[in-house]
Amino acid sequence: MTAPLRSIPVDALTEAQAAEELAALAEAIETADIAYHQNDAPVMTDAEYDALRRRNTAIEARFPALKRADSPSEAPPGAAPAAGFAKFRHGTPMLSLDNAFSPEDFAEFAKSIRRFLKLPPEEVLAFVAEPKIDGLSVNLLYEKGVFVRGATRGDGTVGEDITRNLETLEELPRRLPEPFPDAIEIRGEVFMTKADFLAFHAEQTRLHEERERRRERGEKVGEAVRIPVNPRNAAAGSLRQLNPEVTARRPLKLLAYAQGESSSPVADTHSAYLDQLRAWGFPVNPLSRALPDETAAEAFQAEMAARRAGLAYDIDGVVYKLDRLDWQARLGFVGRAPRWAIAWKFPAERAETVLQEIQIQVGRTGALTPRAVMQPVNVGGVMVQHATLHNEDEIARKDVRVGDTVILQRAGDVIPQIVAVVAEKRPAGSQPFAFPTTCPACGSHAVRPEGEVVRRCTGGLVCPAQTVERLKHFVSRNAMDIEGLGEENILKLHEEGLVRSPADIFRLAPHAERMRGWEGWGKSAKGGGTRKVANLLAAIESRRNVPLERFIFALGIRRIGEQNAKLLARHYHSLATWREKMLAATTIGSEAREELGSIQGIGPAIATELAEFFAERHNRDALDDLAREVSPTDAEDFSASDSPFAGKVVVFTGTLEKTSRDEAEAVAERLGARVTKSVSKKTDFVVVGADAGSKAKKAAELNLRTLTEDEWRAMAGLG
Ligand code: IVH
Repeated sequence: MTAPLRSIPVDALTEAQAAEELAALAEAIETADIAYHQNDAPVMTDAEYDALRRRNTAIEARFPALKRADSPSEAPPGAAPAAGFAKFRHGTPMLSLDNAFSPEDFAEFAKSIRRFLKLPPEEVLAFVAEPKIDGLSVNLLYEKGVFVRGATRGDGTVGEDITRNLETLEELPRRLPEPFPDAIEIRGEVFMTKADFLAFHAEQTRLHEERERRRERGEKVGEAVRIPVNPRNAAAGSLRQLNPEVTARRPLKLLAYAQGESSSPVADTHSAYLDQLRAWGFPVNPLSRALPDETAAEAFQAEMAARRAGLAYDIDGVVYKLDRLDWQARLGFVGRAPRWAIAWKFPAERAETVLQEIQIQVGRTGALTPRAVMQPVNVGGVMVQHATLHNEDEIARKDVRVGDTVILQRAGDVIPQIVAVVAEKRPAGSQPFAFPTTCPACGSHAVRPEGEVVRRCTGGLVCPAQTVERLKHFVSRNAMDIEGLGEENILKLHEEGLVRSPADIFRLAPHAERMRGWEGWGKSAKGGGTRKVANLLAAIESRRNVPLERFIFALGIRRIGEQNAKLLARHYHSLATWREKMLAATTIGSEAREELGSIQGIGPAIATELAEFFAERHNRDALDDLAREVSPTDAEDFSASDSPFAGKVVVFTGTLEKTSRDEAEAVAERLGARVTKSVSKKTDFVVVGADAGSKAKKAAELNLRTLTEDEWRAMAGLG
């Protein structure tokens, strides 16, 4: 997502900005979910993830009409099970927890319980407080007292069956002493202690480096070695091994803390339930504590915050659960989280380390971004070596210098931040950092336009950093997806001068002989295989007809992520139409520009971005050059559908009575309509709800076909 947008307070967002941001948030959250749950390779910290979700909720609260069909608030975090494991359907869903960050948040939580249950003020709310360990939650199914199956959370409804791996955990009871319900699901957390994580991290790092050295020597290397970023990640990776013997070698621990489906009730209170778990032989956190009333939470929170550093495992907060299970049942769930529990999180973690170097990276758009390289340090359970320094003003403002001891913080950001310099520890003779005014990649001038914070390389297409970054994006998995064309090969092809632009990739065939002559590419390559060049060329050939949406995404236009590329492809159908309309849209106020800005999910800001891209001659040339090589397939042609809305332009206005406007728009799009926000002579149908205003008037003026809600429903087959 674009930072400038996210920095606008929710209250100040325009409707168009809000729609655009909700689209970006849905995409970002989905990407993060998949990275975290399916690939065990998180792309952001939990705090950042939580911040995205909170922002999404806040925007939806202010603009309920803009809530998307694929809104992340409708789905619990998680991702569908990955291939390789059998699916396991949980008896009751495994949900998530809402967060609190302050005593006020907690008070609000307690108040909402009272409000919901209509409890008088004198009624006492007893809670159980449990340290929140950051591991992987698991569901353990016992039938007739015997452990039969165990699963990950997955998407909350369906997880992965990891029974064999869980059986390698020493602490997991195989059999429960009587009495027990016929069938019961027990939930808990599998995790690694800090010491085990650090040892495991060191070992994986060593294996990784060894592999790199072998690779540099041109020797054959096995599978990539994953270096875990935090204990949670290490635990997840260990539990999701296809070979249980690998899991058995990993130092995993278990703590049980919740119940799922049960054939008969086990207890009346959560504290009694925890006692029962202990009696059955489950490890239960000895730090968990019954709190007599809600006022005890603040002191417990402070106590845990103080003890946190000395604990054997990382905790990121405390979970407070209402003790009475009958109340829990009445309160139930809202969205993805129970109303009867909350996770009160600790503030961001900090650590001190030494700044070794300030690197300048050149991005795809030429932006020079400083990055701090530090002595690796553990910040709240994550090994950190790099931090963003944002831009040159930021470096000057904090006066960060190489050699300085700095305070690092991991909070709501993908990359940790440097909060401050420890002035007393500054080495003698240090110099303020001089931000380069030339591009470290190509030597071109790097300029900073008035009023902007970013310095950019002016090298454009001659700058290898920009070109290589663009090429990498172009061939990447979600873009053109050219197999065998990873970073290393792109670099080589670029260095050798064979590939300077995306189109060049499709003109490699005549150079096959030359490529076979390169070390590691040719007939005599060790491990590389003799078919490397042939395979690569075949992979390239096979991508000449990618779907239009991939092609658009591959161009790497700012703000055109996968979601927006899809919207554009669906709207314009063919490359030729899209190109023609984008060119026309470079004129502000043109019909094409209006049309572009009114595509649902695109909006005026993104329209400007696209127009700017097309206004540049070299971008048009590169696109045309590429279009001579590849012919993207047209996006699904809705006009073939036999719905009366297929291929039509539809506008909804006013309040609908029977469904939300969002849902109606989604239905129309499924039927092949293009839904736009503004009425023009190109509009085919205007669906007029209650209290419709100017749009209905304009429709009448233009003599457009209008439909009542009932007429629309009948034509759409909604009955
Ligand atoms: S209870 C419906 N208790 O936190 C309640 N969760 O954000 C669901 N977690 O997926 C969970 N310690 O991985 C619960 N004592 C605890 C926990 C705990 C850690 C994790 C768990 C869950 C996540 C929810």
